[in-house]
Amino acid sequence: MNADKKEGRYSRIEAQLEELLKKDGDTISKMATIVAVLHPKMPHFFWTGFYRLVENELIAGPYQGPVACQTLDRTKGVCRACVNRNESIIVPDVEAFPGHIPCDSRSKSEIVIPVRDSKGNVIAVLDVDSDRLNAFDETDRKGLEKIIALFSRNSGL
Ligand code: SME
Repeated sequence: MNADKKEGRYSRIEAQLEELLKKDGDTISKMATIVAVLHPKMPHFFWTGFYRLVENELIAGPYQGPVACQTLDRTKGVCRACVNRNESIIVPDVEAFPGHIPCDSRSKSEIVIPVRDSKGNVIAVLDVDSDRLNAFDETDRKGLEKIIALFSRNSGL
């Protein structure tokens, strides 16, 4: 997908989610809505989901795609690095990321976006894997960060 097409798709998804996330629901149901809208609309998304920080463990869900690790090792991985750095991380080749946690050998590249509460504390991450190398770029980062900002505004956290 070229950059213009991808940007247009993110704008339409954002508009759709803006309406959906206004409606009643809790944190988990809103996360589930985001995943359900994003996953089928982006052909380069092989696994799309949240890892929630619960008592300092990263716990999977909601997600769509192949079965993934339910709880991540606390000491390594891209999701944990995203929590520690409190910033988005794009990994063009997962094998080149020291400590990457492979939940499925078909995942080749990855993007992880922090989800923050109103005080700026990270409470979860949005993780997307692709089965292609170098699948994510700045358009994905901007598009996904906007969607997460929308989630934060509507989740009352
Ligand atoms: N690769 C992630 C683990 C989660 S899976 O990609 C679904 C990591 O290194 O933290």
